[in-house]
Amino acid sequence: MAVSSFVIAVDGPAASGKGTIATRLGAMFGLPVLDTGLLYRAVGVLTERAGADLDDPDAAGAIAGMLSAEQLDDPALRTRAAGELASRVAIHHKVREALLEFQHVFAAQPDGAVLDGRDIGTVICPEAPAKLYVTATPEVRAERRWKQLKGQGEDVAYADVLADIRKRDARDGGRDAAPMVRAPDAELLDTTEMTIEQAADAARRIVEAARARWKASQEAD
Ligand code: DC
Repeated sequence: MAVSSFVIAVDGPAASGKGTIATRLGAMFGLPVLDTGLLYRAVGVLTERAGADLDDPDAAGAIAGMLSAEQLDDPALRTRAAGELASRVAIHHKVREALLEFQHVFAAQPDGAVLDGRDIGTVICPEAPAKLYVTATPEVRAERRWKQLKGQGEDVAYADVLADIRKRDARDGGRDAAPMVRAPDAELLDTTEMTIEQAADAARRIVEAARARWKASQEAD
């Protein structure tokens, strides 16, 4: 059966370029974009601000259940510390379940949507007509993230950013709840040797091909 809305799932590890690619795809295809990492970042930051235990699934799950869209605009969510807090609360099944509906509602918009994260193509939108798994070597990702953090005014050493990236890859990929993994039907896009322009262009071609297949399957129904 054909899926009725055109969802583009963009998954991959931290600083792979998936956020920029998702934003570009949204503009190219005229679709709204949700950075699902922000949901986990918000839960991590709010759990910490509440003085609750990040390792307690009930505490973090309750905060995830009360999250609203307005809370995603906070610049504090973009920091390195917030990424680490996000990765910690993201291991809890209760947190992931509480964030499901928000993501499903976003994905169900009439024309479709772009969602980027870790488990969009595997768990959130397994029926998405277009799926990409964006990656790059840890060293290249660490360099990109380091430059981005410096641009935001964070004073941080490259070696520390690389250590963070490795730790997050291990935690996000090794967890039991919706681990970060490439969906079997996701196109692999390795951006290690690419500029952002090249990566966005490669992503566009993958999505155009997926959209043509999706349209054909709709017409066949
Ligand atoms: O994409 P990001 O760096 O903003 O994500 C921060 C953390 O949130 C990431 O290390 C793991 C978690 N996350 C997740 O588990 N599932 C998602 N769909 C998005 C993010």
